[in-house]
Amino acid sequence: MNPTSVVEWVLGKIPLEGRSAILDAGCGLGRFALAAAERSPAGSVVTALDLSAAMVDAVRTEARGRQLAIEVSVAGIEELPHPAETFDVVLCNYVLYHVESIPKAIGELARVLKPGGRLVSVVPAFRWLHELIDWQDRALLRLGHDIDGPLFKPTGTDRFCEENAPRYLRERFRVMSRERYDGTMRFPSVEVLLHHYRHTMRFKNAVAAGVDAEVLAAAVGELMSETLAREGHLQVTSQNTCFICVREE
Ligand SMILES: C[S@@+](CC[C@H](N)C(=O)[O-])C[C@H]1O[C@@H](n2cnc3c(N)ncnc32)[C@H](O)[C@@H]1O
Repeated sequence: MNPTSVVEWVLGKIPLEGRSAILDAGCGLGRFALAAAERSPAGSVVTALDLSAAMVDAVRTEARGRQLAIEVSVAGIEELPHPAETFDVVLCNYVLYHVESIPKAIGELARVLKPGGRLVSVVPAFRWLHELIDWQDRALLRLGHDIDGPLFKPTGTDRFCEENAPRYLRERFRVMSRERYDGTMRFPSVEVLLHHYRHTMRFKNAVAAGVDAEVLAAAVGELMSETLAREGHLQVTSQNTCFICVREE
């Protein structure tokens, strides 16, 4: 398990001493953009965007509160509103598995980077958080759902994960480095783990597909308790890889 936060770990890999133009594409609540703005010297420009207006509002409010200058807007990565060759660094962390067309999004990220600029992308490992997936799938089986039914799908994050990301990235970039970050989590109790589980897309998708939330959570909680009794701890593995890529001249 890594003692440094993933944000510190990633930003430690980017030269932020010089004045740079940085884009955080798919910024979410802005943890990378806010930290980059905090560390960048005067004269740097940090831009953040997200498809979700709620995320953008949250980042704007947080940036204002912390007196950080960040240009935030609602935009989609597949059609970036910026001119070509605008940014020195583009961050795109935990996002590309969400987009409709991965090649189109990567083409856009390459277009807005200056020649020689860096794309930094953190992606999850194949079957990310596999313990949570296993608990849910086994709970669904216990509840009588068919293994060949629609609930048993590959995880959404597998669309762009450690194993297949290089194939997409190499279309437009030279991959300079790839490094693993171990974000494995230990939980103190089944209650805390269940709270975390209820926020996962896997759980929300099952509920959206008609599974009763309380029945599913209870069945998953039972499996978690069995794991705790058997193994003496509750762990969810979270391996992530940071790819640093350069846009070829
Ligand atoms: C898992 S979050 C990651 C957020 C942030 N990068 C981080 O690591 O904290 C994924 C974010 O990507 C955004 N997103 C999904 N598809 C997008 C798209 N096509 N264009 C821009 N943002 C998108 C979502 O709204 C969400 O905020």
